[in-house]
Amino acid sequence: MSIKREHWGSRLGFIMATAGSAIGLGNIWKFPYMAGENGGAAFIIIYLALVFTIGLSVLLAEIMIGRSTQSDAVTAFKKLGHGGFSVVGYMGIAAAFMILSFYCVVAGWTIAYIIKFASGHFVGMGGAELGAEFGSFIAAPVKPILYQGGFVILTVIVVLGGIANGIERAGKILMPLLFVILIALVIRGVTLPGAERGLEFFLAPDFSKITGSTIMAALGQAFFSLSLGMGAILTYGSYLDKTANIGKSASQVAFLDTLVAILAGLAILPAVFAFNMDPGAGPGLTFVTLPAVFSAMPGGYIFGPLFFCLLTIAALTSSVSLLEPLVAFFSTKGFSRAQITIASGFLTFLMGIPCSLSFGLLSDFKIIDRNFFDLMDFLTANLMLPIGGMLIAIFAGWVITPLAIREVSGEGDHGLLTKAWIFILRFVAPIAIALILLSGLDIIQF
Ligand code: TRP
Repeated sequence: MSIKREHWGSRLGFIMATAGSAIGLGNIWKFPYMAGENGGAAFIIIYLALVFTIGLSVLLAEIMIGRSTQSDAVTAFKKLGHGGFSVVGYMGIAAAFMILSFYCVVAGWTIAYIIKFASGHFVGMGGAELGAEFGSFIAAPVKPILYQGGFVILTVIVVLGGIANGIERAGKILMPLLFVILIALVIRGVTLPGAERGLEFFLAPDFSKITGSTIMAALGQAFFSLSLGMGAILTYGSYLDKTANIGKSASQVAFLDTLVAILAGLAILPAVFAFNMDPGAGPGLTFVTLPAVFSAMPGGYIFGPLFFCLLTIAALTSSVSLLEPLVAFFSTKGFSRAQITIASGFLTFLMGIPCSLSFGLLSDFKIIDRNFFDLMDFLTANLMLPIGGMLIAIFAGWVITPLAIREVSGEGDHGLLTKAWIFILRFVAPIAIALILLSGLDIIQF
């Protein structure tokens, strides 16, 4: 325990790394198709409301707990004298493996798409052909698993490099680049002939589409997108020193994360309508629509591979943040960074195999009506992360209230924002999360 804890090089470094964790496949791949499946604008409004109340509050609570204890998500609660809450950390470890298992499969697809694009494979293909191409690629028994394994190896390499030189540097350079490419795609997407219907779908809310399970999906997406509820942000916060203004940092991360999700939606959904595709197409949406946009735009053969490169990188700065909490925890048990990283990477690879095969060989194998891939996604995003977040909110709001207030209002300023934060942690978050879970699971009905 006497080894000196590594720290971020700067506040900007922390923000970029945390934004790097938050911004990932969740924003660019998952958000547009979830909005597409769940009624467009109405889903987005609920999502925004959840992000800036519950999401932001839990985000700040995680950073605060991590920074004040300088510990991983299991040890942190013990240090604060409430070891029972360490269940958040243990559940987080399980969630990390479960998320990584499907996340790395999708990230593997992004690598495959860089190669397919760069080799000119997509030249001249339209939407329907690209859809068929994608379907047969992910259904194959071997190739997607090899790509998934390749991505796991990349993740392992970055995590082996440590905090400041690996994770922080990647975030600072690559996040701004991603942003620029995304803006270019939005401009192309919304100026395609026929894009108006997509914009309308994205901007005009139809609240009749909203049900308990839609709201549960929005809540799950908010937690997933902000990397909350399993100790990843807590772990990142533990590498902060005491001087940073964490309230401001948390707001900036939530803002950037949301901005990228909205931009991704604007890049993809108008194009879906312009090419007469189905917005409810699910996980394939990004991999079919964007290639169609690229092949219809001048310079698409450059933008295409570049976009999928950046998507791989965005996924990498996120997958790293799923592996790092495991390193932080198991290193308190006497294992080295290298041992933990390699062993976890191997387990992630194994768990990824049934996820990948869910689109082919195992597509008929269903548990609670879901294939293995969807099951991992559902259990983590919709259940484990919100439950973890609820426990974190209760812990910060009720159990360690004075410490929480002191940590965020350094100079003894008990401002309105701090009061609002505590109020949300105490009442809004636990009650809303409980109601949303119960109604999403059809245990109660509104
Ligand atoms: N937030 C990332 C995304 O949107 C995924 C992610 C990284 C994550 N770390 C996490 C999700 C921790 C939940 C918990 O792609």
